Amino acid sequence: MPLYRRYFVSALGLGGVGLMSPPLLSGRGSEGRLATWARDASAPERAGLIRLDSNENPNGPGARAIEALQAMLHEANRYPDAAEVTLMEAIAREHGVSPANVVLGAGSGEILRMCVEAYTSTSKHLVSAAPTFEPPARFARLLGRPVVEVPVDSALRLDLDAMAARSTGAGLVFFCNPNNPTATVHGEMAVKSFVGRIRRASPETVILVDEAYHEYVDDRTYATAIPMAVADPKVVVSRTFSKVFGMAGLRAGYAIAHADTARLLREYRVGSGTSVLALATAAATIGDHAHIADEQRKNREAKAFTRAFFEGAGYKVGPSDTNFLMIDLRRDPQPVRAACRQQGIAVGRPFPPLDTWLRLSIGTMDEMRQATAVLRTALG
Ligand SMILES: Cc1ncc(COP(=O)(O)O)c(C=O)c1O
Repeated sequence: MPLYRRYFVSALGLGGVGLMSPPLLSGRGSEGRLATWARDASAPERAGLIRLDSNENPNGPGARAIEALQAMLHEANRYPDAAEVTLMEAIAREHGVSPANVVLGAGSGEILRMCVEAYTSTSKHLVSAAPTFEPPARFARLLGRPVVEVPVDSALRLDLDAMAARSTGAGLVFFCNPNNPTATVHGEMAVKSFVGRIRRASPETVILVDEAYHEYVDDRTYATAIPMAVADPKVVVSRTFSKVFGMAGLRAGYAIAHADTARLLREYRVGSGTSVLALATAAATIGDHAHIADEQRKNREAKAFTRAFFEGAGYKVGPSDTNFLMIDLRRDPQPVRAACRQQGIAVGRPFPPLDTWLRLSIGTMDEMRQATAVLRTALG
């Protein structure tokens, strides 16, 4: 039996591991759950809302993905075992790794939870940033595990020196690259040196590199940390189908890790937690490079248009290697958020301590034209 099939059997419990694993609530779409319209009963109907608040892909899944989704409907009565293997193989092919290096999740949110659960404890803290994607810190606190949050620097970049300095004795370091919500990215050398420093000073600490926005990076010094993760049991990379692949509502994500690490992480999964529809759609779209390139181009164009609008109006816009922008409004953005929502535009939530900055996800060009017209008035 091939190695990864053995892992798969083990994950199903047939090898004596999976069914005895601790159950874990699956990650919910945290961006969606925290979105402003979700909390506000007075918000306009969601159907008519231009949603620039959750860093979703406004174009949805591609044609190949939709076709696969429809074709899989007749398998909806079956548990997703075979579809999981198919997706693990597709992911492995795409990254030139073995399926034994792949761990599936119901969105990458589940992967983040698995890592917090597996690697932090009451005596092994989580190192995160402020601001960064909040769920790992939130989940660690829920479990009663200590959290150290290191503020970003004045250029909105993760302060890697300070994060490394606080990592000695940590169970897990959450390194979001590119970082949500600041949209900043660190190049390959900086990532390697950061990981190297932590590995030398604190050999037991695991570094989770969240690459949810990987496909949107333009910075040429950047490279994925996947080769590091495959070689080093203390490095894990998470990826998602929620962004460039346009599948946020379907819920699929994955981790790439050393085979031993992957085996351990699988024990923390919700068994059969990803639906056959999500699995089949993801498998059909991961290798659709023409579609990905098209999505990247659309995002780049609409982002450039939006940046030009704000810069033309005299606002500072942070660097962005993602599908969203951070704009310094130099005032409390709350009235602007409220005015936008009145006009049917949902924008990003607050991200303390960046109290004067607004996060705006990139929609279609048409949506950004409408949104900037509303923002022109809202900003006075
Ligand atoms: C940095 C980052 N990581 C992970 C996620 C979770 O995405 P999902 O659970 O949809 O894969 C998000 C969602 O916005 C994110 O911004």
